[in-house]
Amino acid sequence: MKKITIAIDGYSSCGKSTMAKALARNIGYLYFDSGAMYRAVALYSMQNGIITAEGIDKERLREEIGNIKITFCADEETKNSITYLNGVNVEKEIRSLEVSQQVSHVAALDFVRAALIEQQREMGKAKGIVMDGRDIGTTVFPNAELKIFVTASAEVRAKRRYDELVARGDNLDYNDILANVIERDHIDRTREVSPLRQAEDALLLDNSEMTIEGQLEWLKEQFKQRTAE
Ligand code: DC
Repeated sequence: MKKITIAIDGYSSCGKSTMAKALARNIGYLYFDSGAMYRAVALYSMQNGIITAEGIDKERLREEIGNIKITFCADEETKNSITYLNGVNVEKEIRSLEVSQQVSHVAALDFVRAALIEQQREMGKAKGIVMDGRDIGTTVFPNAELKIFVTASAEVRAKRRYDELVARGDNLDYNDILANVIERDHIDRTREVSPLRQAEDALLLDNSEMTIEGQLEWLKEQFKQRTAE
Protein backbone atom coordinates (compact mmCIF):
# COMPACT_ATOMS: atom_id res chain seq x y z
CA MET A 1 0.00 0.00 0.00
CA LYS A 2 1.35 3.47 -0.83
CA LYS A 3 2.56 5.51 2.12
CA ILE A 4 1.04 8.92 2.65
CA THR A 5 1.63 11.97 4.85
CA ILE A 6 -1.05 12.77 7.41
CA ALA A 7 -1.26 16.32 8.81
CA ILE A 8 -3.38 16.95 11.91
CA ASP A 9 -3.73 20.62 12.81
CA GLY A 10 -5.99 22.51 15.15
CA TYR A 11 -6.46 24.42 18.36
CA SER A 12 -4.44 23.72 21.50
CA SER A 13 -5.59 20.95 23.83
CA CYS A 14 -8.21 19.53 21.52
CA GLY A 15 -6.76 16.04 21.66
CA LYS A 16 -4.79 16.20 18.41
CA SER A 17 -1.83 14.32 19.81
CA THR A 18 -3.98 11.61 21.43
CA MET A 19 -5.72 10.91 18.13
CA ALA A 20 -2.57 11.31 16.04
CA LYS A 21 -0.71 8.84 18.26
CA ALA A 22 -3.56 6.33 18.22
CA LEU A 23 -3.89 6.55 14.45
CA ALA A 24 -0.12 6.21 13.87
CA ARG A 25 0.04 3.14 16.09
CA ASN A 26 -2.98 1.59 14.42
CA ILE A 27 -1.72 1.99 10.86
CA GLY A 28 1.99 1.44 11.62
CA TYR A 29 3.10 5.01 10.84
CA LEU A 30 5.60 7.19 12.74
CA TYR A 31 4.15 9.92 14.92
CA PHE A 32 5.73 13.37 15.36
CA ASP A 33 4.51 16.01 17.80
CA SER A 34 5.61 19.34 16.29
CA GLY A 35 4.28 21.28 19.32
CA ALA A 36 6.79 19.41 21.50
CA MET A 37 9.55 20.97 19.38
CA TYR A 38 8.31 24.52 20.02
CA ARG A 39 7.90 23.63 23.69
CA ALA A 40 11.49 22.36 23.83
CA VAL A 41 12.77 25.65 22.35
CA ALA A 42 10.76 27.55 24.99
CA LEU A 43 12.17 25.35 27.76
CA TYR A 44 15.73 25.83 26.48
CA SER A 45 15.16 29.60 26.48
CA MET A 46 13.84 29.53 30.05
CA GLN A 47 16.71 27.36 31.28
CA ASN A 48 19.36 29.52 29.66
CA GLY A 49 18.21 33.01 30.62
CA ILE A 50 16.92 33.83 27.12
CA ILE A 51 13.40 34.21 28.50
CA THR A 52 13.28 36.38 31.62
CA ALA A 53 10.69 38.60 33.29
CA GLU A 54 11.69 41.27 30.73
CA GLY A 55 10.70 39.03 27.82
CA ILE A 56 12.60 37.10 25.13
CA ASP A 57 16.16 38.02 24.16
CA LYS A 58 15.49 37.42 20.46
CA GLU A 59 19.04 38.09 19.29
CA ARG A 60 20.47 35.49 21.66
CA LEU A 61 17.85 32.95 20.63
CA ARG A 62 18.63 33.63 16.97
CA GLU A 63 22.32 32.99 17.69
CA GLU A 64 21.64 29.82 19.67
CA ILE A 65 18.80 28.23 17.68
CA GLY A 66 21.33 26.14 15.73
CA ASN A 67 22.55 24.60 19.01
CA ILE A 68 19.10 23.38 20.01
CA LYS A 69 18.79 19.75 18.96
CA ILE A 70 15.40 18.13 19.38
CA THR A 71 14.96 14.42 18.89
CA PHE A 72 12.24 11.87 19.60
CA CYS A 73 12.62 8.37 20.91
CA ALA A 74 9.96 5.75 21.73
CA ASP A 75 9.59 4.72 25.37
CA GLU A 76 10.46 1.00 25.50
CA GLU A 77 7.51 0.09 27.70
CA THR A 78 4.69 2.39 26.62
CA LYS A 79 5.96 2.98 23.05
CA ASN A 80 5.02 6.64 23.55
CA SER A 81 7.20 9.25 21.92
CA ILE A 82 9.62 11.01 24.31
CA THR A 83 11.11 14.41 23.53
CA TYR A 84 14.84 14.98 24.05
CA LEU A 85 16.45 18.40 24.21
CA ASN A 86 20.16 18.21 23.47
CA GLY A 87 20.12 14.57 24.58
CA VAL A 88 18.14 15.12 27.81
CA ASN A 89 14.62 13.70 28.33
CA VAL A 90 12.38 16.78 28.80
CA GLU A 91 9.01 15.14 28.16
CA LYS A 92 7.57 16.16 31.56
CA GLU A 93 9.09 19.67 31.75
CA ILE A 94 7.82 20.76 28.35
CA ARG A 95 4.20 20.07 29.42
CA SER A 96 4.32 22.40 32.46
CA LEU A 97 2.06 25.47 32.67
CA GLU A 98 5.18 27.71 32.76
CA VAL A 99 6.29 26.41 29.37
CA SER A 100 2.71 26.61 28.05
CA GLN A 101 2.64 30.28 29.02
CA GLN A 102 5.82 31.06 27.05
CA VAL A 103 5.61 28.79 24.05
CA SER A 104 3.27 30.82 21.83
CA HIS A 105 5.65 33.77 21.98
CA VAL A 106 8.57 31.58 20.94
CA ALA A 107 6.47 29.95 18.19
CA ALA A 108 5.68 33.39 16.74
CA LEU A 109 9.35 34.08 15.88
CA ASP A 110 10.09 33.61 12.18
CA PHE A 111 13.62 32.25 12.64
CA VAL A 112 12.41 29.67 15.20
CA ARG A 113 9.71 28.49 12.78
CA ALA A 114 12.14 28.33 9.86
CA ALA A 115 14.56 26.15 11.86
CA LEU A 116 11.87 23.78 13.14
CA ILE A 117 10.03 23.51 9.82
CA GLU A 118 13.25 22.40 8.17
CA GLN A 119 13.69 19.66 10.79
CA GLN A 120 10.03 18.63 10.42
CA ARG A 121 10.32 18.28 6.64
CA GLU A 122 13.42 16.13 7.13
CA MET A 123 11.47 13.86 9.53
CA GLY A 124 8.69 13.45 6.95
CA LYS A 125 10.86 12.82 3.89
CA ALA A 126 10.07 9.10 3.66
CA LYS A 127 6.27 9.63 4.21
CA GLY A 128 4.40 7.14 6.38
CA ILE A 129 4.06 9.73 9.15
CA VAL A 130 1.37 11.41 11.19
CA MET A 131 2.43 14.87 12.36
CA ASP A 132 0.31 17.15 14.48
CA GLY A 133 0.60 20.89 15.03
CA ARG A 134 -0.78 24.19 13.77
CA ASP A 135 0.69 24.64 10.29
CA ILE A 136 1.47 21.10 9.16
CA GLY A 137 -1.16 21.02 6.40
CA THR A 138 -0.68 24.66 5.39
CA THR A 139 3.10 25.21 5.55
CA VAL A 140 5.15 22.16 6.53
CA PHE A 141 3.49 19.60 4.22
CA PRO A 142 1.13 21.50 1.90
CA ASN A 143 0.98 18.38 -0.30
CA ALA A 144 -0.01 16.01 2.50
CA GLU A 145 -2.53 13.50 1.15
CA LEU A 146 -4.72 13.59 4.27
CA LYS A 147 -5.26 16.78 6.27
CA ILE A 148 -7.46 17.07 9.32
CA PHE A 149 -8.32 20.29 11.16
CA VAL A 150 -9.51 19.62 14.71
CA THR A 151 -11.52 21.90 16.92
CA ALA A 152 -13.55 21.80 20.17
CA SER A 153 -14.93 24.50 22.47
CA ALA A 154 -12.39 26.35 24.68
CA GLU A 155 -14.15 25.05 27.83
CA VAL A 156 -13.99 21.42 26.72
CA ARG A 157 -10.32 21.82 25.83
CA ALA A 158 -9.45 23.51 29.14
CA LYS A 159 -11.21 20.74 31.06
CA ARG A 160 -9.27 18.06 29.17
CA ARG A 161 -5.97 19.84 29.84
CA TYR A 162 -6.90 20.33 33.51
CA ASP A 163 -7.71 16.62 33.95
CA GLU A 164 -4.45 15.65 32.26
CA LEU A 165 -2.33 17.91 34.50
CA VAL A 166 -4.18 16.93 37.69
CA ALA A 167 -3.70 13.25 36.80
CA ARG A 168 0.03 14.02 36.59
CA GLY A 169 -0.08 15.38 40.15
CA ASP A 170 -0.07 19.12 39.39
CA ASN A 171 -2.18 21.38 41.60
CA LEU A 172 -3.87 23.94 39.34
CA ASP A 173 -6.84 26.21 38.93
CA TYR A 174 -9.18 25.37 36.02
CA ASN A 175 -9.68 29.10 35.30
CA ASP A 176 -5.92 29.64 34.80
CA ILE A 177 -5.92 26.81 32.27
CA LEU A 178 -8.97 28.23 30.48
CA ALA A 179 -7.33 31.67 30.32
CA ASN A 180 -4.17 30.08 28.90
CA VAL A 181 -6.15 28.15 26.25
CA ILE A 182 -7.97 31.34 25.15
CA GLU A 183 -4.75 33.38 25.09
CA ARG A 184 -2.89 30.76 23.08
CA ASP A 185 -5.77 30.51 20.56
CA HIS A 186 -5.53 34.25 20.05
CA ILE A 187 -1.74 34.33 19.63
CA ASP A 188 -1.72 31.25 17.36
CA ARG A 189 -4.46 32.66 15.12
CA THR A 190 -3.18 36.21 14.83
CA ARG A 191 0.59 35.78 14.57
CA GLU A 192 2.12 37.04 11.33
CA VAL A 193 4.15 33.97 10.46
CA SER A 194 2.24 30.81 9.63
CA PRO A 195 -0.91 31.56 11.66
CA LEU A 196 -3.24 28.76 12.66
CA ARG A 197 -5.86 28.29 9.96
CA GLN A 198 -7.65 25.44 8.26
CA ALA A 199 -6.08 24.43 4.95
CA GLU A 200 -8.59 24.60 2.11
CA ASP A 201 -8.33 20.88 1.50
CA ALA A 202 -8.44 19.86 5.20
CA LEU A 203 -11.36 17.92 6.68
CA LEU A 204 -12.91 19.64 9.71
CA LEU A 205 -13.39 17.55 12.85
CA ASP A 206 -15.20 19.06 15.85
CA ASN A 207 -14.60 16.52 18.60
CA SER A 208 -16.35 18.32 21.51
CA GLU A 209 -18.85 15.48 21.75
CA MET A 210 -16.78 12.58 20.43
CA THR A 211 -15.09 9.77 22.33
CA ILE A 212 -11.45 8.86 21.65
CA GLU A 213 -12.61 5.56 20.14
CA GLY A 214 -15.10 7.37 17.90
CA GLN A 215 -12.39 9.69 16.63
CA LEU A 216 -10.04 6.82 15.87
CA GLU A 217 -12.74 5.04 13.87
CA TRP A 218 -13.44 8.23 11.91
CA LEU A 219 -9.73 8.78 11.22
CA LYS A 220 -9.18 5.17 10.13
CA GLU A 221 -12.05 5.53 7.68
CA GLN A 222 -10.53 8.72 6.19
CA PHE A 223 -7.16 6.96 5.94
CA LYS A 224 -8.74 3.97 4.19
CA GLN A 225 -10.42 6.22 1.66
CA ARG A 226 -7.26 8.22 0.92
CA THR A 227 -5.02 5.20 0.48
CA ALA A 228 -7.57 3.43 -1.72
CA GLU A 229 -7.76 6.35 -4.17
O1 DC B 1 0.25 21.55 20.47
P1 DC B 1 0.93 22.22 21.63
O2 DC B 1 -0.01 22.86 22.60
O3 DC B 1 1.90 21.33 22.32
O4 DC B 1 1.77 23.41 20.96
C1 DC B 1 2.56 24.26 21.72
C2 DC B 1 2.64 25.63 21.09
O5 DC B 1 3.41 25.58 19.89
C3 DC B 1 1.32 26.30 20.74
O6 DC B 1 1.24 27.57 21.36
C4 DC B 1 1.35 26.51 19.25
C5 DC B 1 2.76 26.25 18.84
N1 DC B 1 2.85 25.40 17.64
C6 DC B 1 3.00 26.04 16.43
O7 DC B 1 3.01 27.26 16.38
N2 DC B 1 3.15 25.30 15.30
C7 DC B 1 3.11 23.96 15.35
N3 DC B 1 3.26 23.26 14.21
C8 DC B 1 2.93 23.30 16.58
C9 DC B 1 2.78 24.06 17.72
